Amino acid sequence: MLTIAHQVTWGGEASTRDRHVEPSDQHPESVQGEKASSQKGDLRPVEHVRRKCHDSQVAASRTAPAGRPPVASAPGGIVSRPALFQRLSGAGRVVQISAPAGSGKTYLVRSWIEESGLADRVAWVAVGREERDAQRFWISVGDALRQTEPGSKVVRGLTAAPELDCWAALEQLIKDMGALPERTWLVVDDLHELSSGEAMRQLELVLMRAPAHLSFLLVTRHDLQLGLHRLRLDGELTEIRAADLRFNVAESRALLHAAGVEVRDSTLGRLVERTEGWAAGLRLATLSLVGHPDPERLVDEFSGSDRTVAEYLLAEVLGRQPDPVRRLLLRTSVLSQVNGELADLLAGTSGAEGILQDLERANAFVVSVDGRRSWFRYHQLFAELLQLELRRAEPDLIPVLHGAAAGWYAGHAVQSRRSATPKPPRTGSLPLASFQTIGLALN
Ligand SMILES: Nc1ncnc2c1ncn2[C@@H]1O[C@H](COP(=O)(O)OP(=O)(O)OP(=O)(O)O)[C@@H](O)[C@H]1O
Ligand SMILES: [Mg+2]
Repeated sequence: MLTIAHQVTWGGEASTRDRHVEPSDQHPESVQGEKASSQKGDLRPVEHVRRKCHDSQVAASRTAPAGRPPVASAPGGIVSRPALFQRLSGAGRVVQISAPAGSGKTYLVRSWIEESGLADRVAWVAVGREERDAQRFWISVGDALRQTEPGSKVVRGLTAAPELDCWAALEQLIKDMGALPERTWLVVDDLHELSSGEAMRQLELVLMRAPAHLSFLLVTRHDLQLGLHRLRLDGELTEIRAADLRFNVAESRALLHAAGVEVRDSTLGRLVERTEGWAAGLRLATLSLVGHPDPERLVDEFSGSDRTVAEYLLAEVLGRQPDPVRRLLLRTSVLSQVNGELADLLAGTSGAEGILQDLERANAFVVSVDGRRSWFRYHQLFAELLQLELRRAEPDLIPVLHGAAAGWYAGHAVQSRRSATPKPPRTGSLPLASFQTIGLALN
């Protein structure tokens, strides 16, 4: 057994405590790049105990937005989503809500908390873009837990200090959590913003070792490296994804109704189709529909080039991509579906398949259309925005792109005819429209 002295600052008071670490102690960080090994009961190796939150200096003086759950309110009202509420109520110890920007993640959690009367037992931490480091994050978590009714007496506060040892502080936090007198929830919203690898590894450790009566709701735009597969196997993980959050026709009607907008069934159907049930898209359409003299026409014309939708998608999705990825997206937007080879051809890149798969994983409005994840399509509104941007940025290139794509399809069609068993050229899922477009381009 080793005895290690380290300094922790709890409740503003610095104290030096001795801590015993078994030789078998292991922390996920010790297998960086491999699968983390934070089984329940695992601790960390000695060198990590001594490590400080090295990336915590950046934002040490900032205040993280932590604490009580924000009250659910929306101009026009919140749409209640009972089926999803039921899933949250019956969920395992850890819930991951992973879906694109604007798909209704935060609203869902807020409204569920309110409808279930859980506000006093929920600690809410929203990771701001400026609060990404380990120290600020854990201070926010501690503060938020202290503000809950069960946590108010048992969780001690954590104060920022240059010498703060986050790993040691976490040990204390885990111990405090064990004393929570009743079921408590910790919501971490916008977890994708937490860019500190150290904070992620610490969170992984906490997920594995937290007491059974502390439940986690992890809200993120994309899946994270948190070793959740182990929880999945143990039946402790509930996952809510883009498809689950999509607004159906009844929910879309309620969203419009709450804003005083009534439209015909057929119009509503078209709107849900155009937005693919994407909450932010529906909301932006609703805003335009309020008091509009011709809602039918507005819905027919509603597209990704609508100013408000374009602004949103530019700021939240396209603008966040590096230049080569943006170029790939713009240039491939001339097609209804694309694969890696075709994308490489149009964008003049290599490795496009991997990029498209990464974009899909990042919930960046790119979805695969085949089980092998080799063909992709873009969300309709996103595709329209990309086409708009392409027309702005490289209008002369558009016919060239069509020509190149047509050549590619023609080549693959010939190959397919020559093969012993004629098959569609790895384009089985391509809609007929694509081939018609090629035909037109060739003519
Ligand atoms: N249940 C709901 N009732 C009413 N409006 C909703 C509901 N869910 C979503 N919306 C609308 O959709 C918008 C986006 O929702 P929300 O902010 O929850 O998305 P998000 O998935 O958390 O996005 P981000 O990843 O950007 O945080 C909201 O501003 C709101 O207008
Ligand atoms: Mg949100």
